[in-house]
Amino acid sequence: MSGAASLSQAYFAGLQAALAKSGICEPVLLIDKTRLNQNIDTLKGFLPRGMAYRIVAKSLPSEQLLVHVAKRACTNRLMSFNAAMVAQLLARLPDYDQLLGKPVPVAALAQMLGGLKPSQKKSLSNVQWLVDTPERASQYGALARAQKLPLRINLEIDVGLHRGGMAPGEGLQAALDEIVNTPELSLSGLMGYEPHLAKLPKLAGWPARAKTATQKIYAQALAQSTAALGARHVKTMVRNMAGSPTFRLYKDTQLANELAAGSTLVKPSDFDTPMLKLFVPAAFIATPALKVENGVRVPGGEQAGDLLQAISPGTSVFTHGGYWMASAVYPKGLAPSPLMGRSSNQELLVGPAALARGKLAVDEFVFLRPHQSEAVFLQFPKLAIFEKGRIVDIWEPLPVSA
Ligand SMILES: Cc1ncc(COP(=O)(O)O)c(C=O)c1O
Repeated sequence: MSGAASLSQAYFAGLQAALAKSGICEPVLLIDKTRLNQNIDTLKGFLPRGMAYRIVAKSLPSEQLLVHVAKRACTNRLMSFNAAMVAQLLARLPDYDQLLGKPVPVAALAQMLGGLKPSQKKSLSNVQWLVDTPERASQYGALARAQKLPLRINLEIDVGLHRGGMAPGEGLQAALDEIVNTPELSLSGLMGYEPHLAKLPKLAGWPARAKTATQKIYAQALAQSTAALGARHVKTMVRNMAGSPTFRLYKDTQLANELAAGSTLVKPSDFDTPMLKLFVPAAFIATPALKVENGVRVPGGEQAGDLLQAISPGTSVFTHGGYWMASAVYPKGLAPSPLMGRSSNQELLVGPAALARGKLAVDEFVFLRPHQSEAVFLQFPKLAIFEKGRIVDIWEPLPVSA
């Protein structure tokens, strides 16, 4: 089983039958557990010896899903992305280590702290706050001092992505000094995210040079941290790099000692890249076809006179919901129509004429493959877990957070 090629008619007929048998009759996000497990094992197989794995929680936003991945991949490391998500995960999975994948304004951190239960406050020692500038380092320092609250700080290094973060040099030094001089702060690690490495055009050695530059910048940041905190500290702290598009670039633990990835485990279509070709799509939107009609009728077309043909060949399928960040994959040949525009309520998908001739019945499911998982999963109240021909479980998405 590999890639999108294995998404056969028989495969979707199996999903269709399982959904019908389980009584699901409304839009649902379906996760194929066998394929998910295959992806987890593939990812683990690619990790160099001694490399830790951190699950990107925003890309797999469901408590049960995160726990399943954590158990199978033997990790308790999560990457969370905002204060609300930190609080959700502290409440649900207090013993997991959380590294923020983006900086949180100090006011949002203060508000979140105010809302925590005393028991959750204890687990705050499992959270690493991402700090991207010396200014944010001093704001966090001030908060930690005022609240007499120890905070673990992970510093974001700009290794070439240019999405913020510090370059080695003055700014990084100021942030390190703030940490060294504030007893409540400790340096838990460095983060260097570099997804651009997988996207650069293969022109005149550009990707290879960019990879070398990334490594050099990260190494310089590590050397600067070593000067501030000592070699032992830097050797054992979290040295995070990568994401789904790039984790395969790492062959040893000399620089990074942990890699983050999430999306590739369910492989939305934005992750159809050569480096991820051994990963298989494992998440689909299944939504009922509420109306299946022969031909495609222009709204109001009967009154158009000679301006246009009121009906053209094909099948019109109106789905329950729509306008997701996703493309229809089954039945084959379905695509949104410019005639109606997009609709989140009942979307018109136009397909081959044969569909209306018995290939797709009203209330049967249309399957779409998400382009990305992080936003799409959160649009569904239920994640239906498919395994060995059956819906074996219903998992819940995490509450929406921003
Ligand atoms: C800091 C950071 N690390 C890693 C990732 C990778 O996530 P995924 O593997 O889901 O692409 C992201 C994604 O946005 C990120 O922002």
